[in-house]
Amino acid sequence: MIGTKSNIQELKAEDFVAIRDFIHERSGIFFAENKKYIVENRLSKRMADLGVKNYKDYFYLIKYDTSQKEFNTLMNLITTNETSFFRNPPQLKAFSDEVLPLIVKEKEVSKQRKLRIWSAGCSTGEEPYTLSIILLEKIRDAASWQIEILANDISEQVLYAARTGVYNDMSLRSTERFIIEKYFTREPEGYRVSDDVKRLVKLSHMNLTDFKKMAMFKDIDILFCRNVMIYFSDDVKRNIVRHFYGSLRPGGYFFIGHSESLHGISKSFKLAYFKNALVYQKEASATAAAAAVSERREAVSERTQSTLRTLEAMQKLLASKR
Ligand SMILES: C[S@@+](CC[C@H](N)C(=O)[O-])C[C@H]1O[C@@H](n2cnc3c(N)ncnc32)[C@H](O)[C@@H]1O
Repeated sequence: MIGTKSNIQELKAEDFVAIRDFIHERSGIFFAENKKYIVENRLSKRMADLGVKNYKDYFYLIKYDTSQKEFNTLMNLITTNETSFFRNPPQLKAFSDEVLPLIVKEKEVSKQRKLRIWSAGCSTGEEPYTLSIILLEKIRDAASWQIEILANDISEQVLYAARTGVYNDMSLRSTERFIIEKYFTREPEGYRVSDDVKRLVKLSHMNLTDFKKMAMFKDIDILFCRNVMIYFSDDVKRNIVRHFYGSLRPGGYFFIGHSESLHGISKSFKLAYFKNALVYQKEASATAAAAAVSERREAVSERTQSTLRTLEAMQKLLASKR
């Protein structure tokens, strides 16, 4: 909540740095000096509610509260949770019309009807539910597939809203009418997303800087982490992206926000150029790559041998004519 001018306590530079560095260390979120007013606005109101006298006391409260309760409340206060269904349509078109058919085909061939998708920093649920709707629309016989959309966020408040699954017109502004009619029911409080859509989504609380937890995410086919890392410092981004790389299966795809880039953050991914968007991709497995290289080598040596055979035949022909 943003306090009114009268109830905002001035945040001195040294207190700002202490609180800012603590938030950065624990969540990756970084507030530059020019964002001091955000911390000031949001914490003033919280301190008044708690009856905490000053920023120093509040700092000690979040630092030494072993239950993490106040830290969780702080995360609810300082995170930016803006999102909507079908956010950035070209990226989702690339997902539904280009990436997904490739993966589905691959899995059909290997007879492994399993899909693991991850929406990291899912906010109030619009992103993972959009992915769920797309899968239900695009995968024939989706019920016969083992599908998991793992969705998590550092804020308990947004996860509560995601679990409730009731949305307003603003959230659905980019959603086609027939999708709303098919997957939502109109209620006095808003549009309730259907259980079929919810069933594929597994919501959980997670801090992306908790690398022990991150290491438990494996074999992800497609990862979405859009508009989350923009709030992190480059060092934190590097670390998180390295863990994302480890979580993806070889050949898996990685969607970041359309205005974000991995430039200066990671060189591990290659760029896949689709009609509707550019998507990062983890190289296919080292063995597959090695096999491809040796296949290429064999093909080249086969061509070389056949050229040599032709040359030998020509030399023999020339010699016989001399
Ligand atoms: C702007 S929203 C993006 C939502 C969605 N991905 C989208 O693009 O529409 C960013 C979300 O990232 C979450 N977030 C920020 N830091 C995080 C962290 N360290 N771990 C997990 N989630 C985090 C915020 O709570 C917020 O809900």
